[in-house]
Amino acid sequence: MTASVGGFELVCPLCRTPLDDGDDRYRCRRCPRTYPIVAGIPDLRVRPDRYLTLEEDRAKARALAEHADLGFADLTRRYWEMTPEVPTELADRYVAAALDGERRGAAFLDETGVDVAEASLLEVGCGTGGLLAAAARRGARAVGIDLALRWLVVARRRLTEAGLDVPLVAADGAMPPFRPGTFDVTVSVETLEHTDDQRGLLHWCLASVRPGGTCRVVVANRFSLAPETTVRLWGVGFLPRAWAPAYVRWRRSTRYQFVRPVSVTELRAMLGPRSPAVIGPAPLPPPHPEAGRAELAVRELYRRMARSPMAPLLTRVAPFLEVRT
Ligand SMILES: C[S@@+](CC[C@H](N)C(=O)[O-])C[C@H]1O[C@@H](n2cnc3c(N)ncnc32)[C@H](O)[C@@H]1O
Repeated sequence: MTASVGGFELVCPLCRTPLDDGDDRYRCRRCPRTYPIVAGIPDLRVRPDRYLTLEEDRAKARALAEHADLGFADLTRRYWEMTPEVPTELADRYVAAALDGERRGAAFLDETGVDVAEASLLEVGCGTGGLLAAAARRGARAVGIDLALRWLVVARRRLTEAGLDVPLVAADGAMPPFRPGTFDVTVSVETLEHTDDQRGLLHWCLASVRPGGTCRVVVANRFSLAPETTVRLWGVGFLPRAWAPAYVRWRRSTRYQFVRPVSVTELRAMLGPRSPAVIGPAPLPPPHPEAGRAELAVRELYRRMARSPMAPLLTRVAPFLEVRT
């Protein structure tokens, strides 16, 4: 029987032929490939992310899934305890961001102005699933993919705890298991800078939406005037790329060789001259609940400039860029 998740047909990421359901794995109808189900999640990847091998990632996913007693917040903390190479200070920030994920996702959907009720929605690089939760609560038929299966186990805990039924699939955003034109809305937030095939992921996000559909890809701007978003350091993007990992290691004691914020020029080159997609400043994530008046005033100024004829100027230095259709 043809395999699907949430009503969306699954295809082989390599040869694009429909997959068949098997007992414990999916089988391609044309090529000899089969894809396992790991910790209850379809694993349709043909390559790992750059931090762990496929087997290491699956082992971490299974270990997380075994913590059936932990709620979403504690499982997120457990994840970082199992990742000692990331300094505690940064890990604490990542936990806080994950716990705030649904609020950020809801704010992002508000900013896009897209009515996702009843819409089919794909998130590429869904991480811990905050945006998926926000979209599903608004009635979207959402599905999330991520190249890290371990993150999907954490996302699933968030979603089940919230009583939301959102299918998750381990897959590469540059080689996803869906047909082009499947979705009304595709979003990808702060994922492009974490992948090596940036052009492939960007193009597939754009190709995944039906004609007239909405695609939003948000990426950290290399030449932002704000601190770099992953490691919170000023000026990283202005260094030669080859120097950035050593600088981040010195200042933050963490790795940076797999993070690659992009500039407007690089995004334009990836899109090519014929793309109808538009590049602009992306909406800022919501302010911290304790943000002071000055910060709120600067944010309001940013919001107004982003919607004014001055947007192209802001685009050069905005913290995040957005590619949209
Ligand atoms: C910084 S996190 C952002 C997660 C989420 N979008 C958010 O805003 O909270 C980046 C995510 O992208 C995922 N990722 C990186 N490369 C990917 C790829 N090629 N395809 C799908 N996901 C990818 C990572 O595993 C990680 O979960």
